[in-house]
Amino acid sequence: MRTKLIAANWKMNLDRETSVRLAAEVRRFADGARPDRQALLAPPFPYLEPVREVLRGGRVLLGAQDVSEHPPGAFTGEVSAEMLLDLGCVRAIVGHSERREHAEESDERVHAKAKRAVDLGLGIILCVGEKEEERLRGAEKRIVEAQLRAALAGFAPREVEQQVVVAYEPVWAIGTGRTATAADAEAMHAHVREVLAALFGEGVARAVRILYGGSVKPSNAGELLAEADIDGALVGGASLDGASFTAILSA
Ligand code: PGA
Repeated sequence: MRTKLIAANWKMNLDRETSVRLAAEVRRFADGARPDRQALLAPPFPYLEPVREVLRGGRVLLGAQDVSEHPPGAFTGEVSAEMLLDLGCVRAIVGHSERREHAEESDERVHAKAKRAVDLGLGIILCVGEKEEERLRGAEKRIVEAQLRAALAGFAPREVEQQVVVAYEPVWAIGTGRTATAADAEAMHAHVREVLAALFGEGVARAVRILYGGSVKPSNAGELLAEADIDGALVGGASLDGASFTAILSA
């Protein structure tokens, strides 16, 4: 049985005070919420520490929005996996489409980040997803498969089983208010599981959680989370509001 993971990606939003307030609201809710749901908050780097203090001793997990592929050293502006572990993060988001686009992260760089994080014992949420024009020409499954193969090249099955969560986020659905239908999302999630089975074996594919992301909100979360292969959500916009995020957590 895969515990559903509802992960909040706050992106470059909020300030110290609102981060702490929102984290406290999520903690209060999650501590009394259904045990088959897990919540994770990924604040901006500067707010990891204050949010960690709020979450300490509770059930809500702390995550990061990115991680460097480099070991500690002369890399101005980068944040290492060691630092994130030191701050209590259990996972980092890797390969988000906004980073692939705005920071020009290639498949190779996504792979390097994923590998270094997992080597150090930091779990990842690996984001994959097609652009609109790729879906329009029917290439979405091929694109997602290529992203998975590139990011997870050379991983041991046990590493994938224990440390990797996949997030399928169709780029055209992120921050646009447009969501994939539950049936379209489920079809892609089943495909992701088939690719994982081919690469790492059936047991690993059954164990890995595959989240859906892209305009998830209280009104569509229930339908999405009811699908057999949708094991949670990566939530952007709706995670910035305590009532919305906790509604998704209990959907
Ligand atoms: P959204 O973002 O929920 O605002 O569409 C999701 C994401 O980018 O992870």
